[in-house]
Amino acid sequence: MADEAGSVSAGGDASGPWQALSSGFEEARAREDSLDRLVEWPAERALLGDVTGLSVLDAGCGNGAKLVELARDGAVSSVGVDISGSFVAPPAGVELVRGDLSDLTAVPGVAGRTFDRILFLQSFGYAADGVRALQRARELLTDDGYILLTRTQPIRYALERAEENGTSLGQEYFSTQPFAYQHRAWDDRVTLTKRPYTMSDLLNTFSAAGLWIETTVEPQMTADNARRYPHKQAVLDRYLGILMFTLRPRR
Ligand SMILES: C[S@@+](CC[C@H](N)C(=O)[O-])C[C@H]1O[C@@H](n2cnc3c(N)ncnc32)[C@H](O)[C@@H]1O
Repeated sequence: MADEAGSVSAGGDASGPWQALSSGFEEARAREDSLDRLVEWPAERALLGDVTGLSVLDAGCGNGAKLVELARDGAVSSVGVDISGSFVAPPAGVELVRGDLSDLTAVPGVAGRTFDRILFLQSFGYAADGVRALQRARELLTDDGYILLTRTQPIRYALERAEENGTSLGQEYFSTQPFAYQHRAWDDRVTLTKRPYTMSDLLNTFSAAGLWIETTVEPQMTADNARRYPHKQAVLDRYLGILMFTLRPRR
């Protein structure tokens, strides 16, 4: 699962761990049995629908491969922003820029433009201040534009910590203490500091940023993939997966 919860290195250099993690993350994502390939990207793609003629801003775009695919499907004038700065070679109509998603309006190549779709795919938790990041993103939307944002089910982290610490799900779910996290599938030598969050934290963040939820999806495997990749179905059976939201400005 391409998981995320949030780095707390808000005031410092947030790029350090991501420069180290980017190749491990992309290798894990590219594997045939990655949950990103089996569940997340198909669900994200379905939510985006026909992107012909639409401009897309991908905040925390990784190496930019998803944006390149959207450009191949007809998206135009699109920009990917990532703090790691490790990008694929972009085709015409796609710019990939090193920058911080905490304030997209300040990123060169983004400032002064508007976008039909703004994506925070497993990247929103890394914003220094979630409400502010969404308020800034909202300013960059066209009149009919929306944000597609995905986040790991908070129950997943609470369950993992409860198993690790011998505590209960509720104790960990409602804990407010930042915790250290190593992504075994990416690179277990790199530690990220994560902020715990609850469902109400997440929903209140959207409201505080002046957004309303148009759609919520909790994507799962197809029956065929569940049969082919039972070890991945077991992960979803235990940890639920991720949440996807389309968010529109309250006018
Ligand atoms: C879990 S990966 C998700 C990548 C991609 N969106 C996807 O769906 O496959 C999180 C990404 O967020 C990027 N990131 C972390 N902190 C960031 C920040 N402050 N500003 C911009 N990108 C950031 C990382 O470099 C990484 O590529």
